[in-house]
Amino acid sequence: MQADVPPREDLGRALCIITGASRGFGRTISKEVSRLVKPRSVLVLAARSGDDLRALQADLAASDAGGTGLVVHCVEADLGLKEGVESVIRASKEASSEDIDHLILVNNAGSLGDVSRYTKSFINMSEVDSYLSFNVSSAMCLTAGVLQAFPQRAGLKRTIVNITSLCALQPFPSWVLYCTGKAAREMIFRVLAEEEPDLRVLSYSPGPLDTAMQMEARTKTADPSLRETYSAMFSQGQLLTCEASCAKLMKVLLEDDYPSGAHLDVYDV
Ligand SMILES: NC(=O)c1ccc[n+]([C@@H]2O[C@H](COP(=O)([O-])OP(=O)(O)OC[C@H]3O[C@@H](n4cnc5c(N)ncnc54)[C@H](OP(=O)(O)O)[C@@H]3O)[C@@H](O)[C@H]2O)c1
Repeated sequence: MQADVPPREDLGRALCIITGASRGFGRTISKEVSRLVKPRSVLVLAARSGDDLRALQADLAASDAGGTGLVVHCVEADLGLKEGVESVIRASKEASSEDIDHLILVNNAGSLGDVSRYTKSFINMSEVDSYLSFNVSSAMCLTAGVLQAFPQRAGLKRTIVNITSLCALQPFPSWVLYCTGKAAREMIFRVLAEEEPDLRVLSYSPGPLDTAMQMEARTKTADPSLRETYSAMFSQGQLLTCEASCAKLMKVLLEDDYPSGAHLDVYDV
């Protein structure tokens, strides 16, 4: 960080859109962001599980003891579908108010895909398309829709976060869908950062987190050595908590000193 620029203490009066907020890392990001935004900020939380989103909304309302007037909207949406993406964009436009000074979009939702098979078994194009629709196309179209809905204007900072993985950079056997999706998705945000220099674009790799996705990884992975690696990390207590990884992400966002378009790994923060 530059020596003469102190880190911000808050994320401003924000409109923050978080996908995959119903559980895991997205849920934790929602809680942490709610503590770091200024009064009268707005959170738009998206996922398919409406009940889990509403439970989170109630938790956030209960913890807003200081009465900051945080407004939380839940959008029950399947981001594998065009209508789901459109509903998040629509809800964000409706939820926003004019005095917002920071737009934050966190593209967090993602899925591991079928890791029980190897690449040569993926002969069905619609299965692959369906995976890529949710994990790649939806992140691109949601980001584009949000940027169009909230164009550049004086006094508005715009931050786009992509939750990425080591798998965007390295091949893992039997994880062809996940590695392909993460690599493609990360390139979207690298291109975006080149095209729109006023944006702050970050691909954050949160590390191995103790979530439902990790349980899938250690129980369903076809490659025996990779499956054992993840089982051992779990049994030896090497998985990170969502809270620990999210604290690093918040530090990066507050310091705001990363090169736009960068891939930052939790272990490098
Ligand atoms: N866990 C790890 O070790 C790890 C490591 C590196 C990167 N990551 C990345 O971190 C992010 C969060 O992962 P996580 O571990 O928290 O996963 P998770 O526990 O499986 O949560 C995934 C989230 O995505 C949502 N989601 C899934 N399908 C959806 C769909 N079709 N439409 C809308 N939302 C959908 C889920 O909500 P609903 O089911 O309610 O829709 C849930 O909120 C992902 O991008 C993942 O790739 C995770």
